[in-house]
Amino acid sequence: MILVTGGAGFIGSNFVLGWLAQSDEPVINLDKLTYAGNLGNLQPLAGDPRHIFIKGDICDEALVAGLLERYQPRAILNFAAESHVDRSIHGPRDFVTTNVNGSFALLEAARAYWQGMGKEDKAAFRFLHVSTDEVYGTLGPGDAPFTETTAYAPNSPYSASKAASDHLVRAYHHTYGLPVLTTNCSNNYGPYQFPEKLIPLIIANARQGKPLPIYGDGQQVRDWLYVSDHCAAIRRVLEAGRCGETYNVGGWNEMANLDVVRTLCGMLDELAPKAAGSYAGQIVHVQDRPGHDRRYAIDARKIERELGWKPLETFETGIRKTVEWYLEHDDWVRNVQSGDYLRWLDTNYANRDAGHGAETRTSA
Ligand code: NAD
Ligand code: DAU
Repeated sequence: MILVTGGAGFIGSNFVLGWLAQSDEPVINLDKLTYAGNLGNLQPLAGDPRHIFIKGDICDEALVAGLLERYQPRAILNFAAESHVDRSIHGPRDFVTTNVNGSFALLEAARAYWQGMGKEDKAAFRFLHVSTDEVYGTLGPGDAPFTETTAYAPNSPYSASKAASDHLVRAYHHTYGLPVLTTNCSNNYGPYQFPEKLIPLIIANARQGKPLPIYGDGQQVRDWLYVSDHCAAIRRVLEAGRCGETYNVGGWNEMANLDVVRTLCGMLDELAPKAAGSYAGQIVHVQDRPGHDRRYAIDARKIERELGWKPLETFETGIRKTVEWYLEHDDWVRNVQSGDYLRWLDTNYANRDAGHGAETRTSA
């Protein structure tokens, strides 16, 4: 089996669902269920014995060590993180705690576990760390996209904390020989993304007649990748990636934020038209994000050349699927916005011993 951390979040839940759709290899899913963790994302796995959910913190090294001892996974995939740049500007502490100290605790538990393994299991074991293109900093309009050898230059507390964790992962390979893999991916979008991030926020606000906030001039450029393509890349790196290597993952799809928002408005005009006018009429420019990186772009040729991965979705196909999913899952958005998904957790976990992780076979 494999141990996934952060598997109740956006990418983690897509990964777990995708993994169990293609394989019967069980998943232990360790997630703290912060505001970003939502067991409702894993509802399709309710009652499925291949999915073992543990509510717990990656910073809790004893908990992680106990899980490794008990379940003997062949790999650890670390998705767990504080992931929202704006939140990292308002309150960086949780980002350092989870992204740096949490990754460190996980690495320490993994190292002890791996060192105690038999020869064959030891050779097969992998620690895959899911990271971001934001560690490379910002690009000018004519700069070449980030490659795996681009120097790290993180600019936000979020990207600095992810960069620190990447460095620890690298060091555990070079110092202890831990068989690690790191992926650095661009902006994901798709089902189950928390509506604090640009694309789901714009869809939700548009539908609710609220302003569509564009930071600054809206000419900041991001590379967008549909989440199932990211999950496929992670599976491929786990399967065939070379230990100690990093792989950039991207969609070859750079777009300015304003163009992304206009595309969303056009699609909503087509699929869920307003009584009068276009959703684009709700666009407003607001104060920019402090230290806002101007452009990210990913050179994903290494993963294509070495592992044969490339994205299956274009932005056109992926964004249509995404808008359709959000239109069909108004209830999911409402649950998140009302906080109902959190209240359910309070009820479910109130009388359990959180110190040792509350285990459930996804009865969400
Ligand atoms: P998310 O915020 O949607 O989910 C994070 C999950 O981690 C949540 O379920 C949360 O409960 C859990 N978590 C947080 N702190 C934890 C802790 N201390 N212990 C255990 N669980 C904890 O994030 P996401 O967008 O799904 O991102 C997943 C990973 O992918 C992150 O490492 C992020 O840096 C990386 N990444 C994200 C993107 C993107 O566009 N979203 C792109 C590239 C890389
Ligand atoms: O590049 C990968 C990163 O992408 C991941 O590592 C992060 O976890 C993920 O959150 C994402 O970071 P961004 O800051 O790029 O994503 P976000 O959706 O917050 O913002 C996308 C762009 O849109 C960014 O330039 C800021 C802008 N924006 C965002 C919001 C929420 C707006 O203009 N208005 C908004 O209201």
